Amino acid sequence: STQLAGLKPLSGRTVTISAGGTREALDPVRFLGNRSSGKQGVALATAALDAGAQVRFLAAHMDVQPPAGVELIQVESALELRDAALKAAIGSDVVIMAAAVADFRPAEVSGTKIKKVNGSDAPVVHLVQNPDILHELVERRDAEASTQLIVGFAAETGDEDGDVLQHATAKLKRKGCDLLVVNQVGVGRVFGQDQNSVIILSGRGAAPQSAAGSKSDVAAAVIDRVSTELSHVHP
Ligand code: CTP
Ligand code: CA
Repeated sequence: STQLAGLKPLSGRTVTISAGGTREALDPVRFLGNRSSGKQGVALATAALDAGAQVRFLAAHMDVQPPAGVELIQVESALELRDAALKAAIGSDVVIMAAAVADFRPAEVSGTKIKKVNGSDAPVVHLVQNPDILHELVERRDAEASTQLIVGFAAETGDEDGDVLQHATAKLKRKGCDLLVVNQVGVGRVFGQDQNSVIILSGRGAAPQSAAGSKSDVAAAVIDRVSTELSHVHP
């Protein structure tokens, strides 16, 4: 290899990372949200920066501060994140979708605050499905025949239809991404703490890889794997 001593594994690479949870407006003061803290995305950005990458950080709502040293793009809704992601992906070697994207948004957003009217029924909120950003990124990448590496995240539990690995494998296939980082949620797993247990699934048929530890440990393992995959695609 022509790798120079001291050259970091992602030197010269641009990595786009989405993080946090989207907020879907109901009216000017209310939204539908989720509990994503943004911590995993921040850990990924930090690991990518440490590996020498330029990082485009797409931040939906987060409980934590974005890391210093990234190109910060703040978004609110899934539709905003979609626009930002498709734009940031251009010229990126890697796109990592760590954001918790709302599957649905209110069909209508009231331009004025929804008022309660005494004596009348509670309003009914109709939802419509948001676009699948990860899938769109993959479709565009494939249409352009680019070698961009695309990484998804998923939290799965086993159920009567299959175990974690079966659900995750089906999702990887559906999404068409190169890597899917699967968080094992549920029985025997500590939830809501800073410890994680993940399986990294490869769309290219490589064996599943396990990683466990803090969100930083998991992020380091993911960025490591990304660096390895990239060095295979274009050394
Ligand atoms: N994702 C996305 N756009 C969406 C929903 C999800 O880009 N509208 C991305 C997430 O950022 C994540 C991956 O897709 O990287 C998997 O998200 P997940 O919610 O597990 O997948 P879904 O297809 O929404 O499946 P589910 O019905 O299990 O929620
Ligand atoms: Ca979802």
